[in-house]
Amino acid sequence: VTGPADRARARITVYPDGPLIVRGEFDLEDLDGGPVPTGRLVALCRCGRSAAKPLCDGSHKLARSSRPSQGPTPTEPG
Ligand code: FES
Repeated sequence: VTGPADRARARITVYPDGPLIVRGEFDLEDLDGGPVPTGRLVALCRCGRSAAKPLCDGSHKLARSSRPSQGPTPTEPG
């Protein structure tokens, strides 16, 4: 008999300005405890822009490309 304690641990990787990638054996549930179908790998949205929440749909890339330039501030010529 196997149970949740016998499962291999899931591994979560945090991508900068992107999703949380979850690998391994895990259950993903909605707010009511209903199952959200996944495989052994899923990308969870953490930017809040996905239309497929809780899953990442790539919308975080649009937010990244629309940011203003982070380059150096221009200076007055000496
Ligand atoms: S992290 Fe990818 S859409 Fe939110």
